[in-house]
Amino acid sequence: MTVLVTGAASGIGAALVERLVGDGTPVLAVDRAPLIERPGLTPYRCDLADPAQVTALVDAARGTVTRIAHVAGVPGTAPAPTVLAVNVLAPRLLIEGLLPHLPDDGSVVTVASVAAHRSPAPDEVLDALLAADDVAATERWLADHPHDGPAAYDTSKKALVRWTRLTAGRHVRGARLNSVSPGPVETPILTDFRASMGEADIDRAAGAVGRHGRADEIAAAVGFLLAPDASWIRGVDLPVEGGLLAVRAAAEAAAAAPVVVTRSS
Ligand code: NAI
Repeated sequence: MTVLVTGAASGIGAALVERLVGDGTPVLAVDRAPLIERPGLTPYRCDLADPAQVTALVDAARGTVTRIAHVAGVPGTAPAPTVLAVNVLAPRLLIEGLLPHLPDDGSVVTVASVAAHRSPAPDEVLDALLAADDVAATERWLADHPHDGPAAYDTSKKALVRWTRLTAGRHVRGARLNSVSPGPVETPILTDFRASMGEADIDRAAGAVGRHGRADEIAAAVGFLLAPDASWIRGVDLPVEGGLLAVRAAAEAAAAAPVVVTRSS
């Protein structure tokens, strides 16, 4: 059983690799950054922004990989075409290419984000993006639906959650697919989020739940969904954010609650 992990060189992906290798699970560790081979870890250098390299990865991984964690992602400080290429097109090409070759008890986890909730894109706009099968089609979608880098990040994660759920629904007799949506996590990408989403939003999230998440806390959730213990969980998006969405829901409910006026006698 080999697990393919993208984004394996840093942050959440690196924490997931440590968990898996520590448990004795072989890992095909994919990143554009170099990784060092060691027992249990086979490095694979790949720029996921380049569909030809993703196709070569599919060819190399077919037949040996039984589980996939697509963790790699680029923030909204990158140009919108790069954000969409790495965060949407790459996982689609990678997972669609390998899914027919995974065993029925296989498992796929994509890492999205609570930032998905920031995107106003309706389902039909997401579906048009998900129909774009190459870089040129993605750029045509961008021409029709202009997004700067930060907006592309939010929409990319919303599209990834939707794609994961719909693909799970279409593949219900085979390998399971689920997504994990972290809130802010202390990894190198958080510096980019501070620039693209604004310091105030990032600080407000930590203020709401007490702190930012740790990479190992997200990796634990991904590891659970990859494992047989999660055998009856399919097509869900699991927020891993210390209760950030619950805090927001509670605040909205409190704001919407009717004001009760008590009459004094
Ligand atoms: P990170 O910056 O520590 O790691 C990202 C990894 O992806 C790096 O190793 C990088 O080399 C790799 N990568 C980026 N572009 C690539 C490409 N074109 N080809 C191959 N590899 C590439 O960030 P972190 O926090 O581990 O992020 C992992 C995932 O979690 C991302 O998808 C991110 O969007 C998501 N996420 C992170 C949050 C956070 O606050 N850290 C919050 C919500 C979601």
